[in-house]
Amino acid sequence: MSAALRGERLSRTFATATGDVHACVDIDIEVAPGELVVVRGASGAGKTTLLNMLGGLDRPTSGRVWIGDVDATALDEEALAALRRERLGFVFQSFGLIPILSAAENVELPLRIVKTPPAERDRRVAEALRLVGLAGHAAQRPGELSGGQQQRVGIARAIAAQPHVLIADEPTGQLDSRTAATVMDLIGDLVHSQGLAALVSTHDPLLVQRADRVIELHDGRVTSVVGAGAGAAAPGGTRVAPAGGAAAAPDAAPPSEGPALSGDAAPSTPGADGTPGPRTRAEARAQRDG
Ligand SMILES: Nc1ncnc2c1ncn2[C@@H]1O[C@H](COP(=O)(O)OP(=O)(O)OP(=O)(O)O)[C@@H](O)[C@H]1O
Ligand SMILES: [Mg+2]
Repeated sequence: MSAALRGERLSRTFATATGDVHACVDIDIEVAPGELVVVRGASGAGKTTLLNMLGGLDRPTSGRVWIGDVDATALDEEALAALRRERLGFVFQSFGLIPILSAAENVELPLRIVKTPPAERDRRVAEALRLVGLAGHAAQRPGELSGGQQQRVGIARAIAAQPHVLIADEPTGQLDSRTAATVMDLIGDLVHSQGLAALVSTHDPLLVQRADRVIELHDGRVTSVVGAGAGAAAPGGTRVAPAGGAAAAPDAAPPSEGPALSGDAAPSTPGADGTPGPRTRAEARAQRDG
């Protein structure tokens, strides 16, 4: 089966005052339809950098990103934004919901942006909320929902536009471990029932059990690929083992050196209505897309 999302020898180097940071080095990765791939690694390992490149939110220093059969690295900004809107759905650690809008209105917003006709919009919003188990909470605002429910609204918003690929950077980072597990279960269910391809980052070892494949990053490099069909993403010499069994679980990565710089962090700019600002430029870009 052809990949819904593929990265070919992806590298990203950031120039900083203290020298170059090699955030991602020569990473090969692919995600097939109906597959949940988890990228795991310590803080600073390069997870966000990798997901941003694959989501077309950041350009690799070298290498190529294929979104379906389109070489995303060859597109200009406008074409890339259109491709993101058409093929990708993003879920954020901070949920990224608009506080003054109801759950349904939050899910509807990206569909309004791409001018989906009203009847179709209503149908997709209802369907997305049903899929995440929130049909009965459509009228509630984010502040009236639990953290796990808010993240489920975030997931509904991402899938309402019927993307081919779901990209979620630490979607459970703000949730307690039990709620995190249910959100991860939900993503797994959606992937398998809807044929979505999903790429999810986490540093939580408990969440990798839901993955079809786990890609372990350490200091910007893939150190192991665990799971069925891992061959395509396995760099030479790395261990490839079936996912699931405790014996096959990736070893805990040693902690990454030094704290992660947040050079990509744009200032959070709350709107007059109290809307939280996006945490990073990449997040802002994805939200602008819808
Ligand atoms: N815009 C940037 N400018 C300079 N360095 C950056 C930039 N973005 C990321 N880095 C560096 O690249 C490396 C990988 O960062 P990245 O944010 O991808 O890590 P991560 O695995 O997502 O970490 P976390 O779990 O803390 O979110 C880190 O060393 C980080 O400091
Ligand atoms: Mg990160």
